[in-house]
Amino acid sequence: MKAEIIRLLKECDGYLSGQELCERLGVSRTAVWKVIKQLEKEGYEIEAVRNRGYRLIEGGDVMTEAEIKSCLDKGFMDWNVVCYEETDSTNIRAKHLAEEGAGEGTLVVAERQNAGKGRRGRGWVSPCGTGIWMSLILRPDIAPSQASMVTLVAALGVSQGILRSTGIKTEIKWPNDIVLNGKKICGILTEMSTELETIQYVVVGIGINVNIKEFPEELSSSATSLFLETKGTHKRAPVIGAVAAAFESYYKNFLKTGDLSLLKQEYESRLANRNRSVTVLSPTEPFEGICRGIDDQGELLVERESGELCHVLSGEVSVRGLYGYV
Ligand code: BTN
Repeated sequence: MKAEIIRLLKECDGYLSGQELCERLGVSRTAVWKVIKQLEKEGYEIEAVRNRGYRLIEGGDVMTEAEIKSCLDKGFMDWNVVCYEETDSTNIRAKHLAEEGAGEGTLVVAERQNAGKGRRGRGWVSPCGTGIWMSLILRPDIAPSQASMVTLVAALGVSQGILRSTGIKTEIKWPNDIVLNGKKICGILTEMSTELETIQYVVVGIGINVNIKEFPEELSSSATSLFLETKGTHKRAPVIGAVAAAFESYYKNFLKTGDLSLLKQEYESRLANRNRSVTVLSPTEPFEGICRGIDDQGELLVERESGELCHVLSGEVSVRGLYGYV
């Protein structure tokens, strides 16, 4: 009910009468009033005027289950939101929940992570109240070998969701970093559990640096936030809603074919380094070439000087442009 009241208040231009709220939700005036009081405590500024009703003045940067749910579209995914004030890592929480049977569409969100996990065993800086630290549980009916593509689907969802909710155009650094002005604003860590060649669940962990004002010195040349690049703060729940909606639609297309054939063109249009020189840092044989895009499996296509087109598998290598992080 709380999420529905938030949604109705947001949708309404002027005042929403208590009577209308009661009728639409099938609850008493007292029940509505109690929820309004709770919302005010959580940071919403709501004006209540006798004989007119309620009006939302300012939503605040609230990250409660109800606020996030009010931003999620009812699509084919059955969204379920679990919020923590502080946790070790939303990926760890999501894995526990998945082991206990949580379904596809469960979204685990935290205000702060004290043991945020990055790729390659690294940590992930996740300060309180300034980022989106979330993990999505999926249960796709695909082979484990196809799961790495889900990460590219998520990267596309994040890039499109940021564009939809803030108007900011980002790029994707293959396979799944989101970059803005040459620095990383989002990382994705996908983990899965398999049994006898079938996937039990996939957890897609997404960290978006939204309103972070400064980074530790060792990260400041490669990491940035939406705030630092736009000099403005952004509300996080609408970004989550837009990322979820975009991801859902790309994920549906991915499941239709089991590969990236329907998404390749859009992914490539956002690919940083396309048609530019890159160095492929493979552990066995590093090499240089021109980045030409991706194939249907999400492998990076790199053209060597000899003209040979190499298919580079994610997970095995990392790719650098010739200048700096991107
Ligand atoms: C990377 O190294 O680029 C991946 C970073 C992934 C960070 C996110 S934040 C939410 C989720 N929980 C974690 O512990 N990690 C992911």
